[in-house]
Amino acid sequence: MTQTKTLLTATLAAALSLSALNAQARDLRLGLITPATHQWSQAAERFAADLEVASDGAYRISVHPAQQLGNEAEMVQQLQGGTLDMAFLTLAELSNWIPDFGALYAPYLVDGVDQAAALLRTDAARELLELMPQGMGLVGVGYGMAGMRQVLSRDPIESASDLRGKTLRITPFEPILDFYLAAGSAPIPLPLPAVYDALANGQVDAIDMDFDSILMLNFHEQANHLLISNHMMFPMVGVMSGQLWRDLSEDGRELIQDTMNRHLDEVISTYQQQDAEQEAELRRQDIEVVEADRAVFQEVIAAWEATWNDKAPSLAALRETAAALNLP
Ligand code: BEZ
Repeated sequence: MTQTKTLLTATLAAALSLSALNAQARDLRLGLITPATHQWSQAAERFAADLEVASDGAYRISVHPAQQLGNEAEMVQQLQGGTLDMAFLTLAELSNWIPDFGALYAPYLVDGVDQAAALLRTDAARELLELMPQGMGLVGVGYGMAGMRQVLSRDPIESASDLRGKTLRITPFEPILDFYLAAGSAPIPLPLPAVYDALANGQVDAIDMDFDSILMLNFHEQANHLLISNHMMFPMVGVMSGQLWRDLSEDGRELIQDTMNRHLDEVISTYQQQDAEQEAELRRQDIEVVEADRAVFQEVIAAWEATWNDKAPSLAALRETAAALNLP
């Protein structure tokens, strides 16, 4: 009898909390820059579907990929103004507001995709998200990622010195800019949707990119030299607007955060799982592949650190955390 009563009470509590969510039912929008077929956009769609079910229809999210709502700077403005509710963002615009995020782009902070994944799951990385409410008026929910950075080029690039004088596409933000400036190249900041044309029309000699995007967006059709350098990781952050956060009940915040975090973390796992196969897939293409490690970029790394050790105070703690990670 007591057991039946407890069960009934729990069922009633769950029903009440769902109906409390339902009382504030709302349509939400989530923006991203990646194409609809990209892992991030697909994860956003799955998050939206799961949240609608888990909230019993209280939250319906429409996902807007491919810069439909504008570039990341524009989306951040919309988030700050409360006209956009959520986004999955690269750290490009976030590190303009909070330079400490640049620490996650320290060259060779991690050895590869598994260490990158493990680092993004630590408290040291999550502490950076806590800077967001004060630093830019947004709530950082959690991290996803897009694997590791490589260099794809039309002519062979086998060492840091081969980068000298080359026009090279970068994601538009300072930590990557400083890395390639230190290497003596001429970095050209371009958002992901502009990269294919820039490579095809000769605006750039090379691009800084991840395996997944190279394969998905067919960049290897336009450039057939790949330097597998794994020189930086590429985190993504799932964010909510301050306005949405203030409007939500405790239950609503928890449900949205938990559901989004689960899907962001799945993105990290997906990049871990597909890394080796995507590298193998690229090696099967008509591409010249060369490998490089941190020794190749020693001087570039020293120059980068001279600027960023001060600009990104979290770097020291992240390095320590990364070094202490026990990977299988
Ligand atoms: C890039 O800018 O290279 C990029 C952006 C989002 C996802 C993957 C790559």
